[in-house]
Amino acid sequence: MNRRSSPTLNAKSVLGVPFLPPGAVTGASNRAREMVHRVHSRMAPPPVRILEGIFGMLDHRVLVALCAAGVPDALSGKTDPASLADKVGVDPVALERLLRFAATRGWVRIDRRGRVGPTAVTAFLRRDHPGGWRAWVDFAGGDEIVAAVASLTIGAKPTDAFAAANGIPFFDWMSGHPDRWAVFDDAMAAGGRMHALTLDAALDWSASRRVCDVGGGTGQLLAALLERQPHLEGALFDLPAVVARAVEHERLTTIGGDAFREVPSGFDTYLLVNVLHDWNDDDAGKILDCVALAASRDARIIVVDNERTVTPHNDLAVSADVLMAALTNGGRERTTSEFAVLGQPCGLRLARTVRLASGDVAHEFVTSRR
Ligand SMILES: C[S@@+](CC[C@H](N)C(=O)[O-])C[C@H]1O[C@@H](n2cnc3c(N)ncnc32)[C@H](O)[C@@H]1O
Repeated sequence: MNRRSSPTLNAKSVLGVPFLPPGAVTGASNRAREMVHRVHSRMAPPPVRILEGIFGMLDHRVLVALCAAGVPDALSGKTDPASLADKVGVDPVALERLLRFAATRGWVRIDRRGRVGPTAVTAFLRRDHPGGWRAWVDFAGGDEIVAAVASLTIGAKPTDAFAAANGIPFFDWMSGHPDRWAVFDDAMAAGGRMHALTLDAALDWSASRRVCDVGGGTGQLLAALLERQPHLEGALFDLPAVVARAVEHERLTTIGGDAFREVPSGFDTYLLVNVLHDWNDDDAGKILDCVALAASRDARIIVVDNERTVTPHNDLAVSADVLMAALTNGGRERTTSEFAVLGQPCGLRLARTVRLASGDVAHEFVTSRR
């Protein structure tokens, strides 16, 4: 299916903030939240903290159940839970219990009279929200994802939890389940819109002309970047079945292929956003090799992933790393020095690392032939 990309993306519609902060401000804000969280956590005795950890699985389940019932889409103003249950056609007692849980998480609000209303988070959970983040709930609520996470164990050797639970590795399974693959694409597209804004803001695009987004999914990132940088042309490179459902944009072309075999040549800028963290070091090195072969002498290669820090922080990066452990065969988040080492055998030199407003980092590689 071909879809138009939305030209109205901005920090408010994609992230719910009035403007994109500099990457360092996001980092400082994450550290402040972490300190508050640590104090909050230490105020409880150890058994409570253990139970809170175990009960964490309920956050996932309640969010998935409320979205599956259509609650965020139906909740436009204050109402009593029974009327809401009637509107979405579910059991009022069951709904009220989940709503009470959701209110403690800020996903909905419940006032002193017991009436339930939307919050800023509810708006982002609606199917028609321009940020598209609801797709993450639909993706993470899938049986195959739940089974993979439940299969995450620590054995003597590394294992592929997704394959253990579902029989075959993640992308092979997705190609046999196009309905679920489309949901995965949509979840990636939500992050892609955000990354278009953060990369547009954080990097200098004036010297770029032709950008190839490797593993660019259905192209929301690239289309939104082209919209903001009118002098750019872009090629979306991904598996053939994925580019077949890409968004349309007059300066965007699609190229289907396999990044382990060949990456299109002739571009001055290559993007790999949340691609290398899907693969173990051997496989990530193979993809980078193909990119390095395709890249011209003056090209820059921009790799965006979550940052693995030496000391772990309570942030999305540490969760993304464990998610990669559950969904991939050795995929992981990496430190900046690990990226520098990964690039070396491929003839890529890490020139600089830029912090993004999203909290991720962009590593800019250049070819060592320069
Ligand atoms: C985690 S998603 C990231 C998508 C996008 N870059 C983003 O940030 O939203 C990884 C992408 O790699 C693509 N991919 C997987 N194997 C590939 C291969 N062998 N060649 C090209 N793309 C591949 C997937 O189809 C998917 O779109």
